[in-house]
This record gives sequence, structure tokens and C-alpha cells, in this order.
Amino acid sequence: MIAITSKDDEELKRAGAVIRAGGLVAFPTETVYGLGGNALDADASRRIYAAKGRPSDNPLIVHISDFSQVYMLAETVPETAKKLADAFWPGPLTMILPKSELVPETTTGGLFTVALRMPNHPAALGLIEQAGVPIAAPSANRSGRPSPTTAAHVYEDMNGKIPIILDGGEVEIGVESTIVDLTGEKPMVLRPGYISREMLQEVLGTGVELDPAIRIRPETVQAGGFATDAAAKPENRAASETCKSDSDATNKSPDGPAENEESDVKRTQNLRPRAPGMRYRHYAPKAPMILVQGPATAVTAYIQKQIEEHKDEKIGVLCSVQTAHAYPNACRVVVAGAFGDLAAVAHNLYADLRDFDEEDIDRIYAEDLGISEDANLKEALENRMMKAAGGHIVTVE
Ligand code: TXA
Ligand code: MG
Repeated sequence: MIAITSKDDEELKRAGAVIRAGGLVAFPTETVYGLGGNALDADASRRIYAAKGRPSDNPLIVHISDFSQVYMLAETVPETAKKLADAFWPGPLTMILPKSELVPETTTGGLFTVALRMPNHPAALGLIEQAGVPIAAPSANRSGRPSPTTAAHVYEDMNGKIPIILDGGEVEIGVESTIVDLTGEKPMVLRPGYISREMLQEVLGTGVELDPAIRIRPETVQAGGFATDAAAKPENRAASETCKSDSDATNKSPDGPAENEESDVKRTQNLRPRAPGMRYRHYAPKAPMILVQGPATAVTAYIQKQIEEHKDEKIGVLCSVQTAHAYPNACRVVVAGAFGDLAAVAHNLYADLRDFDEEDIDRIYAEDLGISEDANLKEALENRMMKAAGGHIVTVE
């Protein structure tokens, strides 16, 4: 791990040379850490897929440091792309455009479009400049794990697989960039992020849609690839002594989530998310997570009841500052931020999910922390929490 403090850091030269030579370097961005390789080199992209354990039909985002590179990488550059770049680049926005011949299909997972983003972080921009090539970079986690927001998270997932991790400290935003597809008739957000649809609409002066398929709960999606929930069920784990207050550690399956789940399989059968990565179970802590939605008092009461009823299990709770005191009997309580402070919740979310792994928790109940009057980050948090929960949602009244 190498600490980087500025865009001119000497170490960036060495890291840039590694990328140019076909190697991989993990680096910080303002959203999450990325695992970078030369975007124009099919072998480098293959190495990225291998290091992440990622299916190779899931395309990579190509990172650039100067708008002129868009003309090199995209076949056509619409006016909308220029407007959005003016407003939001460098920043947490990825645009999908038709790809040029220069971009190998291995980088784009076989698609004829390419995802482009100019990150707003001195180490990322310095690395791209030093490499002298655009950098393909997915989030630097092992496939399916929460995205890394510190260099230590990258080390956890990538130790031994890559030669260099550039350490720029904790990231600023904490959830991945907004992805907007500009290849269709209307701009469409394929993955919500810090740049909300309202912000895009304001700049473009037109409506911006949200890919309807991303609201599907992951286990109802037909495309293969995500882990089945059976593999992650608590009956496969033994409750450890530290949190057990009941010696009767029988094998119980989570009963809550199924109860109130309406089946939306039929309604969504033909909808597939247009960003391939959104089809997979994702952002997941090791223990199954159940997202509890409803009025705050009812949510707290439901989680308290679950803790009481499952004394033989190590229960974790992801909650707000305001409700943290309500779960004295939980094995681990992780406070994500104050209710309504979505920036704080987004900033902490992935580190919080990793926190539960340290304790070897059997199951996690998460309060619905994406609720706010403020539209910014709302769709992003709804999406990430639903995916972290693998679609397990309980609605209480
Ligand atoms: O904030 C971010 O975007 C971070 C940092 C490192 O820049 N990167 C990131 O990359 O989140 P990754 O690979 O974890 O997610 C990329 C997403 C995937 O869901 C992928 O399917 C989608 O972008 N994607 C990439 N190229 C695409 C394309 N041509 N069409 C549709 N979706 C695409
Ligand atoms: Mg990712």
C-alpha cells in the first residue's frame, strides 16, 4: 500500500508504468476505490475480471482525465454528453455512449457501448495521466462484496492478487457513480448515485428516466450470476458463545422476510437491468441482511422483537443515531448516521456492512435509512440497501 497525497506524487509515475505494462493498480476515487488496468488492452481487462472473480460479461467503466479522450473512445459524442461533462466532470457520473473501435470488447463485456467517467480525485486523475492510457476500473472488491471505501478494504479483498494499492484515505461519497445511458431516445439512469435524476434533468432540460428493472428484488431476476440466498442462510453457521444467551442453538431459518414479501416475479419477468452489473446480488455482507421498512417506531419494535425471539443467534443491527439505544441485546449495533442525513449514511454504508463480517454475525436487521425529504442520494441508497439485503424486505406498520 502506498500513500498518495497529491496529483504530482512521484509514486504515481511508478503506478502509471505498471498500468502501461498491462498490470493492475487499485486507486482511490471520490466514490469508491477502483481496480485499474489499461482499458485498451484486452489482457489487462481479463486480469481485472480474474482478480475480482467477476463474470466477464459484466463491463468495466473506463476512466479518463481529459474530455478529449471521449472522442477517442466513443463513436459519436452527443450534445447531451458535453453538457453533462461540463456540469459534472470530474465527478461521480458515468455516461454510456457507443464505443469506438479502439475499445476492446473484453473491456465492455461484449457490448458495443462504453461506460466513461472522469473521477474527481487527484490520485485517480494523476494515475490516468501518468499511465498515458484510459483506465478500466470496476470497484476494487471481490465480486459480490461491498465496494471498498478505504485502502484497507481493498487489501482485505485483493491481498496477493495485485502489486499496488494507492492509499488516498477514506473516500468522500461512499457509493458508486450514477450511470446514465445516452444511447437511447431519452437519457436513462441505469444505476442511481450521488448525481440524482433531478440534477441531470436540470442540466439537460429534458426528462431522465430510471431503468425500471433496477427496482426488482435480486432473487426475482432471471439472469444468472448472483449468489442464491440458500448459501448464505444462518442455519449454515453456528452462533458463537459471545452473543448466545440461550444454549438451545437450533437451526432456524429467517422467518421474517418471507412473510410480507409480495411476489413481484410475474410483474418483472421480462425486465432485465440494462447495466449488467445490476443483475447480480451485490454489496452483500457475509450474513444475510433483512431490510425493515415502515414508520420508525414500528421498525424499531419489529427488530427488538426479532432479537428477543432469536436469542440463540448473533444478531446485528444497522440503525440510525436516534435509534441506536433501542437494541441493547443485539450482538452488534452499527450506527450508519442520523435519520435523513443521507450523505453520512452513504459515506458509511459499505464500511458498516464490512463491520458485521468481523463479528461473524448470523443475520443483520437494517433500518430503512434511505428515507428523506431530500431527493439527492435517495434512489441510490434505496437501491444499494435493497441489493445488500438480497431482496429480503419486511414491511411493518
Ligand atoms: O463509482 C464508480 O463508478 C466506481 C469507481 C471505481 O469509478 N466504479 C464502479 O465500477 O462502480 P463497477 O464495475 O463496480 O460497476 C460498473 C457498472 C456495472 O453495473 C456494469 O454492468 C455497468 O457499470 N456498465 C459498464 N459498462 C456498461 C455499458 N456499456 N452498458 C451498461 N452498463 C455498463
Ligand atoms: Mg462494483
